[in-house]
Amino acid sequence: MAESLVEVRGLKKTFKRADGTEVQAVRGIDLDIYKGEIFSMLGPNGAGKTTTISMISGLLTPTSGDAKIGGYSITKQPMEAKKLIGVVPQEIALYPTLTARQNLEFFGKMYGLGGKELATSVDEVLDFTDLRDRAKDRIETFSGGMKRRVNIGVGMLHKPQLVYMDEPTVGVDPQSRRRILDTVIRLREERKMSVMYTTHLMEEAQELSNRVAIVDQGKMIALGTVGELIQQVGEEDRLVLHIGEQRLPDGLLQKLQTVEGVTRALYDEPTAASEDGKQAAPGKITIYAKRGRKALPHVIQIANEAAMEIMSVEVREPDLEAVFLQMTGRALRD
Ligand SMILES: Nc1ncnc2c1ncn2[C@@H]1O[C@H](COP(=O)(O)OP(=O)(O)O)[C@@H](O)[C@H]1O
Ligand SMILES: [Mg+2]
Repeated sequence: MAESLVEVRGLKKTFKRADGTEVQAVRGIDLDIYKGEIFSMLGPNGAGKTTTISMISGLLTPTSGDAKIGGYSITKQPMEAKKLIGVVPQEIALYPTLTARQNLEFFGKMYGLGGKELATSVDEVLDFTDLRDRAKDRIETFSGGMKRRVNIGVGMLHKPQLVYMDEPTVGVDPQSRRRILDTVIRLREERKMSVMYTTHLMEEAQELSNRVAIVDQGKMIALGTVGELIQQVGEEDRLVLHIGEQRLPDGLLQKLQTVEGVTRALYDEPTAASEDGKQAAPGKITIYAKRGRKALPHVIQIANEAAMEIMSVEVREPDLEAVFLQMTGRALRD
């Protein structure tokens, strides 16, 4: 049985705007984070991810509800609870004119480290984040990706059991992003830490997570392993045939549905650009199939026989994007 490190119960946050209106940023979240797992919170901008992380790390007081970390309530026993967690915030929180090492030393002292323990911990963190040879350079000379790595270093200095990371790859180049993702995996593999990771990127949640909570508009709409979540929407692949402005040949959809493994074939007419900014979309046929790649040659053969030209084909395996789409009726990336 998995052992819970974090237990979040009935967590809510309502903000009051200056004009007196209210924003229900978090509307009642219940979840557990297990020891040694990477737990992702996946949701679009404004879903309430940062608000949730801020509450369960003691930076923001909940309107109601609570979180326990290692059994300690973050609202009632914040000192004990905070010792167990490290926080890597969304905004870079480093001193630009200090060096990487000086920043780590500064934050280490804030965590109550000192003397030999501090020096050893800073060295370890510099090694872990691969920043040893830049330790004596000022933060202001660092790239965005390197600053993020120092930030991760700050979050793990006091050897917490759990690290919270709030969208650590936003605004960094692909190479730095890869390094950050690898660092997250190494926190679990090498340090046996738990990680709570927020992202609006389906690919990141899919790659990193032992379990994923999908959040939208302050609520959790699904929770499980990637496999479990995908099973909820069915395990069918989608073949998308782009056919431009061509007329749909009579009886084609029916013929496509006779291919082995195919359950449905749908046609979307080409649409013109609309005034509210929607782009024009060419016509397409979407085919749902148990094993899309196996069905594909038959599908193409049927299209050829009907003298239909296929401009391009996409094979989309079921993913968390599909889960989000089914649960909310909206795409994750809008
Ligand atoms: N301090 C605040 N005052 C008012 N509204 C806020 C505040 N912080 C966040 N919000 C609102 O709460 C909602 C959730 O925000 P946030 O937790 O930052 O979402 P996410 O991190 O998932 O993008 C948004 O609608 C946001 O505008
Ligand atoms: Mg956020």
